[in-house]
Amino acid sequence: MHSKVARLATGSMRYLESGHGNPMVLLHAFPLGAEQWLPQLAKPPIGWRLVAPDLRGLGGSALIGDPAGVSMDTYAAEVFELMAHLDMPRAAVAGLSMGGYVALAMVARDASRVTRLVLADTRAGADTAEGRAARDRMIDLVRRDGSSGVAREMISKLLSEAARTQQPDLAHAVTALIETNGPDGVEAAIRAMKTRPDRTALLAAITCPTVVICGGEDVVTPPDECEAMARQIPGARFVRLSGAGHLSNLESAAAFTDALVVEA
Ligand code: MLT
Repeated sequence: MHSKVARLATGSMRYLESGHGNPMVLLHAFPLGAEQWLPQLAKPPIGWRLVAPDLRGLGGSALIGDPAGVSMDTYAAEVFELMAHLDMPRAAVAGLSMGGYVALAMVARDASRVTRLVLADTRAGADTAEGRAARDRMIDLVRRDGSSGVAREMISKLLSEAARTQQPDLAHAVTALIETNGPDGVEAAIRAMKTRPDRTALLAAITCPTVVICGGEDVVTPPDECEAMARQIPGARFVRLSGAGHLSNLESAAAFTDALVVEA
């Protein structure tokens, strides 16, 4: 596995890469970074080249400009730019939670460049009024306590209770990953999630093979909701990873990797 930096027109973008073959882009959740995908990058599915960027403002991809200037669409445009830079005109796109919001923004922007879609622990709908108010509280929190305050607030939602009690190393690794992020990039991501559009109408128009994955213990985007989203996508396959929480690729790493490339 290699850590690399692409010099894009919009700024430097860091990404991790491993494997050879069909290209697949892995898009991380909020407020993490490319390292979320270490288990998949360590053992890529045979015949696949995995590329996992740090989305703008997170990990090693510095925020450029105002935190209010980032949207799901700007993340999506930059991932397409990274693909072009890597000579990948088209790629499979897998996104978990916020990464799924970005994946749907990519489909909305240019579906012809997405060969396969994996939507994990995510939703197509926009934030509710209550959800937007919670985003404002999270912005206050990150301004006051930085990303460690956000990590404290979120860890119980990101991992299942079993993982938190039985795998303390995993909880520490996720906390450490969140804490590497600067407050401005975290705030930018919160604003991008708060203002993201409703993509529900897009689901019925998706034509590429699609897999929807969800941890059976996900409390952020519960499995019933993910399954209902899968039913709205023509021919989509739904995979429930029993026992896993929201970050299902970390809690059920091998089964998640298999689901990335399962026939759909
Ligand atoms: C994520 O895991 O990316 C976030 O929890 C998604 C969200 O807050 O909407």
